[in-house]
Amino acid sequence: MSALPTDSLCEPTNPAEPTEPSKPIKDDMSQHSADPAPAATTSALATVARHRDWWRDAVIYQVYPRSFADSDGDGMGDLEGVRSRLPYLRDLGVDAVWLSPFYASPQADAGYDVADYRAVDPMFGSLLDADALIRDAHELGIRVIVDLVPNHSSDQHEWFKRALREGPGSPLRDRYHFRPGKGENGELPPNDWESIFGGPAWTRVTERDGTPGDWYLHLFAPEQPDFNWDHPAVGDEFRSILRFWLDMGVDGFRVDVAHGLVKAPGLPDLGDHEQLKLLGNDVVPFFDQDGVHEIYRQWRTVLDEYAKREAPEGPSSEARWWETGGRIFVAEAWTPTVERSANYVRPDELHQAFNFEYLTTHWHAAELRAVVDRTLEAMRPVGAPATWVLSNHDVTRHTTRFGNPAGLGTQIRLAGDRELGLRRARAATLLMLALPGSAYIYQGEELGLPEVVDLPDEVRQDPAYFRGAGQDGFRDGCRVPIPWTRTGPSYGFGDGGSWLPQPREWGELSVEAQTGVTGSTLELYRSALAVRHEHPDLGAGDSVTWLEAPEGVLAFRRGEFVCTANTNGTAVRIPGYGRVLVSSTEVVVTDGEFELPADTTVWWAG
Ligand code: GLC
Repeated sequence: MSALPTDSLCEPTNPAEPTEPSKPIKDDMSQHSADPAPAATTSALATVARHRDWWRDAVIYQVYPRSFADSDGDGMGDLEGVRSRLPYLRDLGVDAVWLSPFYASPQADAGYDVADYRAVDPMFGSLLDADALIRDAHELGIRVIVDLVPNHSSDQHEWFKRALREGPGSPLRDRYHFRPGKGENGELPPNDWESIFGGPAWTRVTERDGTPGDWYLHLFAPEQPDFNWDHPAVGDEFRSILRFWLDMGVDGFRVDVAHGLVKAPGLPDLGDHEQLKLLGNDVVPFFDQDGVHEIYRQWRTVLDEYAKREAPEGPSSEARWWETGGRIFVAEAWTPTVERSANYVRPDELHQAFNFEYLTTHWHAAELRAVVDRTLEAMRPVGAPATWVLSNHDVTRHTTRFGNPAGLGTQIRLAGDRELGLRRARAATLLMLALPGSAYIYQGEELGLPEVVDLPDEVRQDPAYFRGAGQDGFRDGCRVPIPWTRTGPSYGFGDGGSWLPQPREWGELSVEAQTGVTGSTLELYRSALAVRHEHPDLGAGDSVTWLEAPEGVLAFRRGEFVCTANTNGTAVRIPGYGRVLVSSTEVVVTDGEFELPADTTVWWAG
């Protein structure tokens, strides 16, 4: 019998002493030099980032710029802050970052209300900063995906401002959905649609002469008027925006509300159909309309022009490796079924779609197995990789979801059982990273951060909160700036405060507190990602082979690997499957038999 404590399974992957930052911005230990990547990272480049279809099994890290790192001490994260932390992301072992919006915006919805798609908001920096960030990321072997928000603009976008200014009859109004109201004096909204954030999806404008005028559609906040995608200028503009960012060197786009761009002709009433709750999934006249796919076919041709560019030859090709791979779109498309999601990733459309069905699945073996099977079956015919995601900036962090009773959904206000939540979250992550396809990590989950459930109302900024969207309004709790150091102002987030208050205990969850600590959540993520890089087979392919397992346990083979996940609250005896590669809790391996602890995932090499 040999005892293998977790300690030996989660060795820090990059235990080397940190070196000086290339451009000192902060002085904590998570900074590393931007010098050539260490051996582990170089091999990662070779195996994943360099190959043309890098995105099929990529691990993509979501950076929420306002909450990642603040370089100028104003309490708000920025692009220079992100750039300063790229070495951390390299050492974590991610293949790409997805940056939530950093464009010019009045921030009515944290930047998802874009006033100028080709400019960086001064709060986040400048286009030069974006350029430096993209360049540095590439130097370190990290691809960059930016957010594209095509369903709506800000009400401060030039088109919308002019549409209002020029009044009824202005051709600019045709680029949005302006309609006369119903009722004797047009005092009622044109139809019965509700905003996702609560209240009617229509706002009436006051014309320049002070009289009440037409109404405009906004599926989200009133500051986010929906574009009319039937108007050719909208399509032209977005294809041009794509080119702008592709010319800046980005590797892809996350498409915000990808299912919402096209509305049913005539904007019909929902009638007594139950109104949609936050991006829910139901058949409604404003989501998942078939017409949306023509837009993506057009976008795909633009992207492919860039993807097909010849790889540069000669010595510079080493330095410009990122030009050799395809560029991608990932769809945020909430659809009624995973089969409908598959429509977005047909070969001539987008590349990936977030798997929200997986995100909303409980920590329950049978449910998880069913969704894994359904996902793989739905993606296989269209040839797209499956994706897996547990958290993002719109939902309660999964550490907290899993610490609460199942069935509470993705918007939870209760802290729940923290220890249980973290234990399950770690197990869920290892399970996710063993599945074929691409996985998304939301900043801070690698630290095991919980949702901040007790933010005082006066600091909240989520527009859904102010519009009383009922079950929503809690998105600020997953957006609290992440802790880098044990102590110091805003725990190393910046030299000033942070735009949302951080819980006092977050110092002990910081990058500094967890780096090099065997068994810490950060080192667990690092170990798992290092194993994925060393064994590219782990994320490849489109199937898993299920193995027989006791109730509440998932066991599947992926080539030479076996993954076993116990979703039960008690330990379960299973056969051993060889050598333990990574384990989410401490495990003891015996000859021939093995006790898989409660809420634990183990990776094996057979
Ligand atoms: C997406 C974003 C969310 C935003 C909404 C409106 O769902 O993820 O944060 O509020 O779109 O743009």
